[in-house]
Amino acid sequence: MSASPLSLLSDISGSISIVGSMNADYTVTTERLPKPGETINGGPLRILPGGKSGNQAAAAARLGAHVNIFGAVGSDDNADFLLAQLADAGVDTSHVRHVEGASGTTVITVDDNGENTIVYSAGSNAKVDSEYVEQQKDVLLNSSVLGLCLESPIDAVTATARMCHDAGIKVLLNDSPFTDKLPEELIEYSDILLINEHEMAQLLNIAEPSNGDWLGMDWGYIARAMHEFGFKEALVTLGGEGAMAIDGDQTYHINAAKIDAVDTTGCGDAFMGTLLAGLASKFTLSDSASLASYVAAYAATNYGAQASYGSSEQIKAFFADAN
Ligand code: RIB
Repeated sequence: MSASPLSLLSDISGSISIVGSMNADYTVTTERLPKPGETINGGPLRILPGGKSGNQAAAAARLGAHVNIFGAVGSDDNADFLLAQLADAGVDTSHVRHVEGASGTTVITVDDNGENTIVYSAGSNAKVDSEYVEQQKDVLLNSSVLGLCLESPIDAVTATARMCHDAGIKVLLNDSPFTDKLPEELIEYSDILLINEHEMAQLLNIAEPSNGDWLGMDWGYIARAMHEFGFKEALVTLGGEGAMAIDGDQTYHINAAKIDAVDTTGCGDAFMGTLLAGLASKFTLSDSASLASYVAAYAATNYGAQASYGSSEQIKAFFADAN
């Protein structure tokens, strides 16, 4: 691809299903992250829309994809807040389940370098089960791409992957929050894995580079290990070094778009949402990832997860001004 990946933003189309989590993120900024047992002062509390799946849905919808989200919210005020924020981004929330009790929540601290810590309390997200997923079959199968992460019960995630895979829908799995114990069935029914470099090393039992030079690793070897593990296609994010796309026997380095990071919360989800939008638009995996690198970088330039996501026009204008 010779033109800027941003030119792809004009061609976003297609339909995406995302099954998973929605959280209210209770977020405080601090000069530095606290050590265990330490109390430090922070800025004002912000309650922001989040949840990995909600974030992925919002990112894709803001780019112009048609997105349906499936999951569960509680009976608290956060439920209305989360659904309203997703609807504002253009996500169809009409199939979300309503259950008694608290919606999903997180407690997040963000330091002066934009780094964060997140503690997740599943709340209503734990009420997503295989029966609910089965009830959504007709709508779920009406999309070309499915996005999954691991903030929902693994049985429901696996059942969704099986249903969609069997119907010929491309299944993109984000192994986050990370587990190195992915069920065999989930691996079999997922087409593409999204994972960061440290977790990839742990998953495949590969030593991390002692000098921190991830780009200098033998990516042909990593691709073969990934295939043996069960994924022919994968995206390994490399922080400030961009990402590596493993597409069958080919590996491609995706450059990181350079920005000054304010808050990296939800950048991985913006990356995943863009991958989903790109794949639904019939872009290649590496083109989708090249675009995702810009969309995720834009998300780091402001606070919050969904609150920091841009429309195609905003993202194009930001990078046009930056160059
Ligand atoms: O990836 C960021 C997200 O992780 C936050 O929005 C938070 O809700 C947690 O799920």
